[in-house]
Amino acid sequence: MPALVVRELHQYFEKGTVNENHALKGIDLTLEPGEFVAIIGGNGAGKSTLLNSVAGSIPVTHGQIKIGDQDVTYQNVAKRARLIARVFQDPKAGTAPRLTVEENLSLAQKRGQWRNFWANGVKKRDRALFREKLASLGLGLEDRLTAEIGLLSGGQRQAVTLLMATLQAPELLLLDEHTAALDPQTSATVMQLTAQLVAAQNITTLMITHNMQDALNYGNRLIMLDHGRIAVDLKGDQKQGLTVADLLRLFKEQSGQELNDDAVLLS
Ligand SMILES: Nc1ncnc2c1ncn2[C@@H]1O[C@H](COP(=O)(O)OP(=O)(O)OP(=O)(O)O)[C@@H](O)[C@H]1O
Ligand SMILES: [Mg+2]
Repeated sequence: MPALVVRELHQYFEKGTVNENHALKGIDLTLEPGEFVAIIGGNGAGKSTLLNSVAGSIPVTHGQIKIGDQDVTYQNVAKRARLIARVFQDPKAGTAPRLTVEENLSLAQKRGQWRNFWANGVKKRDRALFREKLASLGLGLEDRLTAEIGLLSGGQRQAVTLLMATLQAPELLLLDEHTAALDPQTSATVMQLTAQLVAAQNITTLMITHNMQDALNYGNRLIMLDHGRIAVDLKGDQKQGLTVADLLRLFKEQSGQELNDDAVLLS
């Protein structure tokens, strides 16, 4: 059974007004379990809208979304959250700043159930597990278990957020430019951690990035969105050996235009 099926997905914003925007124009996408898909495309191509649709944070205008055997098309965000973990661009978005690193991890382990969290606190056994997981990141964070997470650097915080997102393997991991706010070196570290955590539990993943080289280096599949449509979909061997220049050329062949992307394309 596929891990994710998106069928004939259309999204309109402000439908029926002068500002009507047909942001997704019939997206068909099937992900097998364990697929790791990088999504690229110009500004406003519909990348975040696709992830938001899958996560349920915007209602679906037309089409169907299934995660595993569950039709989630009309499920609310909270219900779907049991299946989905998300990491956003802003390192502050995924963690509670005044809680410690171990408290944040504990909360993630309880899947955000504050009631259980306050009742039980951080158990010794969990603490040992968190220390081991943090050590595996190779950032020295195992010594910062009791530090307030708000005191960590953006990259450290994003690494912990990723760990939190994958502590209990979700059915689907959604990453929306999760390295974009980091400096190039930290971004590279967090990308490697991402690949490591995703591979360890074979997590089905959709990752939006403006870094075309990362899109080529990571994951087994690469999708380019253009004006609400999938313009290019490369799987496995098809993306082996491609360069960023090849990608730009492919994009132009398929869409008839240069990729309009304000991020540095050739970084
Ligand atoms: N909540 C919203 N209300 C109205 N229009 C929206 C909303 N969200 C997105 N849009 C519009 O839908 C289109 C797709 O936006 P989206 O955010 O999905 O693009 P993107 O590919 O993620 O771009 P970027 O690379 O800039 O993040 C854009 O034209 C955008 O202005
Ligand atoms: Mg976006």
